[in-house]
Amino acid sequence: MNNKNELLKEIDSRRIPRHIAIIMDGNGRWAKKHGYSRLRGHQEGVKAVRKIVEIAGQIGVDYLTLYAFSTENWRRPKDEVIGVINLIRRTLLKEIDNLDKNNVVVQFIGSKDKMDKKFLKDTKIACAKTKNNTGLHLSLAVNYGGRLEIIESIRKLVLDIQQKKEIDVKNIDEQMFSKYLYTKDMPEVDLVIRTSGEQRLSNFLIWQSAYSEFWFTNTFWPDFGAEEFLQAVIEYQHRTRKFGGIK
Ligand code: FPP
Repeated sequence: MNNKNELLKEIDSRRIPRHIAIIMDGNGRWAKKHGYSRLRGHQEGVKAVRKIVEIAGQIGVDYLTLYAFSTENWRRPKDEVIGVINLIRRTLLKEIDNLDKNNVVVQFIGSKDKMDKKFLKDTKIACAKTKNNTGLHLSLAVNYGGRLEIIESIRKLVLDIQQKKEIDVKNIDEQMFSKYLYTKDMPEVDLVIRTSGEQRLSNFLIWQSAYSEFWFTNTFWPDFGAEEFLQAVIEYQHRTRKFGGIK
C-alpha cells in the first residue's frame, strides 16, 4: 500500500477538486465486526472525520461536505438518534477552537425542523466564531435530505414571489434557484465519496451532484483515512469531465 507521502507526490495541485462530498457509511458494521455498540462505531467515525478534515485542508480542497445525519436517519432506534446528534454537537464544541485556529469555516446544512433548541443554539454560536475564516469550508449535513432541501427552497422562493412583486417567474432558472438551496454560497460538488461498499446517493446533494464524479470503497468509515482519500483525489484527477459535451 502506498504511503501518504508517496500519494501526496502524485497529487496535481492545479487540479484539486474544489468541492468534495462524503457519505460516511459503515460505522454500524464496523462496530459489529469488532463487537462494539453502534454508538462506539460513530465515535470511531469522528476520528476519521478529523483525519479527513486535516488532509483535505492540507491539499487545498475549498469545500468539504459530510453527510452526518439524514432526514431518513430518524427511523433508527431513539437512543442511536439521540446518541449521534449529541455526538455531533459535543464534537463540534470540543473541536471548534482548533478548527478556528486552522482557518476552517464551519457550517451546517439541513432542515432545522425537528432539531432540538440546544443543538441549534450551540452549533450556531460555534459556527459563528469561524465565519470570517478563509480556509477550508467544512459543511456538516445534519437532518439533511436532498428532496426536502428542494422543497424548502421552493417554499422560500414562492414566499419571495408573493412578497417581492418584482420577481418575474420567467426569470427563474437553475442559477437563480440554486441561490435558495442550503448550499447557496457553495460551488457544485466535483467528487462524491461513499464508504462501506454501498453505491448509491441516498438523497445526498441530489441537485449539487448532477455532474459529480463518484468514488466508492468497501472500507467502513472508521477505517477510512488520508491514504484512501488521496487515492480518490488522484483517480478523480485522471478522469475526463465532459458535462454533457465532447472532450
Ligand atoms: C453511517 O454509518 C453513519 C452515520 C449515519 C453517522 C455518521 C456520523 C458521524 C461519523 C459523526 C460525525 C461527527 C461530526 C462532528 C461530523 P451507519 O450507521 O449507517 O453504518 P451501517 O450502515 O454499517 O449500519
